[in-house]
Amino acid sequence: MRQTHASIERVTRITADLARVEVATDFAPGSIRPGQYLLVRLRPAWEPYLRERWTPVRFAGGLMLIDRPGDDVLMPGDTVDILGPCGKPFPLRPGAERFLLIVQNTSLTPLIALIEETTGAGKSATVVLEGEAQRYPPGELPREVEILHAPQAWGWLDQVDAIKWADQIIALAPPHRALERYAQLWSTINQLRAPAPAGFALGYFNLPAPCGVGACGACLVPGKHGDICACTDGPALDLAEISF
Ligand code: FES
Repeated sequence: MRQTHASIERVTRITADLARVEVATDFAPGSIRPGQYLLVRLRPAWEPYLRERWTPVRFAGGLMLIDRPGDDVLMPGDTVDILGPCGKPFPLRPGAERFLLIVQNTSLTPLIALIEETTGAGKSATVVLEGEAQRYPPGELPREVEILHAPQAWGWLDQVDAIKWADQIIALAPPHRALERYAQLWSTINQLRAPAPAGFALGYFNLPAPCGVGACGACLVPGKHGDICACTDGPALDLAEISF
């Protein structure tokens, strides 16, 4: 992890509530792996406030692309202070070819880089979107990805087939309900794939990260062998290791 500064080159409104920010940075493409994140201070004067969490969507034309809520806080020419990369890349299972990504009522953004990398490598990805996640513009996703819509929490047509089809499942739920929702999903998975192999199902813990280095304890997740630091051991954690 290191600290650096970056300048905002362009801000484009993609939808009413989503903006694409293009950032000139000294992070090289590939230096921030899917799953890792940055902690960003948008204004030097915002010292007492928590840094904002950024998960790069991709690098293009020498710029780092970030999705943010469609507000007007950032403008071209602004400089931001960045700490990163933080956390670990998604622990993908060796040999996994079929990925099932389930996003419940939160932004799809933390999974975009993973979707691009897996489909770019010729692997299959099915994305199940529920609630707020359905607002992500499908045109921003690779054409190879299969998009399904879920009418209710973790429930959609063909759920059984999809869970049996997948080599690995990655779930993303709102931070304030993540444990509760992942417990529900883990129970379903174990009914269909018992015993689920280690690393088969990951939950992405998109928790506030005041320090990002495992020092403050604000992001602890109860684990079977003690608390797990989502900021350094995650954000994507093996659901088999969580104490629900
Ligand atoms: S954010 Fe401080 S320990 Fe994780």
